[in-house]
Amino acid sequence: MDVREAIDRRRAYRSLEPVEITEEIVNDLASAAHKAPSCFNNQSWRFVFVYGKENLERMHEALTKGNAWAKDASLMIVVISKPDLDCQPKDRDYNMFDTGLATGFLMLRATEIGLVAHPTAGYSVGKTREILGIPDDFTIITIIHAGKLSSSISGHLEEWQQERDRGPRVRRPLETVAHHNAYDPSMEPEDDKDKGSEFGWPEGDWLDMELEWPAEDLHR
Ligand SMILES: Cc1cc2nc3c(=O)[nH]c(=O)nc-3n(C[C@H](O)[C@H](O)[C@H](O)COP(=O)(O)O)c2cc1C
Repeated sequence: MDVREAIDRRRAYRSLEPVEITEEIVNDLASAAHKAPSCFNNQSWRFVFVYGKENLERMHEALTKGNAWAKDASLMIVVISKPDLDCQPKDRDYNMFDTGLATGFLMLRATEIGLVAHPTAGYSVGKTREILGIPDDFTIITIIHAGKLSSSISGHLEEWQQERDRGPRVRRPLETVAHHNAYDPSMEPEDDKDKGSEFGWPEGDWLDMELEWPAEDLHR
């Protein structure tokens, strides 16, 4: 599989079935992430790989209701970082960017070896910290749920989630995000808050958890 194919094939599927996760697989994914570029070569990414039945089950209580499908994941990758691990020129913290790059590499490698790697924001930060012993000064940026794509639709899914798993990838038009030679503000949607529901998320308060931030923050 070449890079373009991995990019095209990667999807945030939610219907997962078990797959054996070995240390070799974990090291393979970790090393793919670890080859990403970073500001001053600071490598500010940290990953907590959670696998094995008992370890995964401990993490289930950190999942939001909307992410119940992730109980079928065979591997959870908790992505963490903190600003002082990376370059901090005026007004810029590069740790989120660099960790995102590394995470992208990891997800493409997962795709290449036949795994779904689904990033999420829907989890309890407090519970995740407690269960995995993550210090308060680290931001828990995302949890990636990995597994094998199931041939049937997961019973955990809401109707809109089922449609996403069956349907095509949803994207806003390319010309609204790729500007040529100058930024064109007329390409921005009039009400930017609509973009989430229109292009990726359903309307409503789908994210049912003891929210540590309001659901509408996800839609920005
Ligand atoms: C930072 C981030 C947070 C996300 N949070 C969730 C989540 O909590 N639950 C979920 O089911 N999907 C989540 N997603 C997956 C997105 O919904 C998905 O990537 C998007 O709809 C585009 O679909 P695609 O990845 O299949 O192209 C998240 C993705 C990212 C990058």
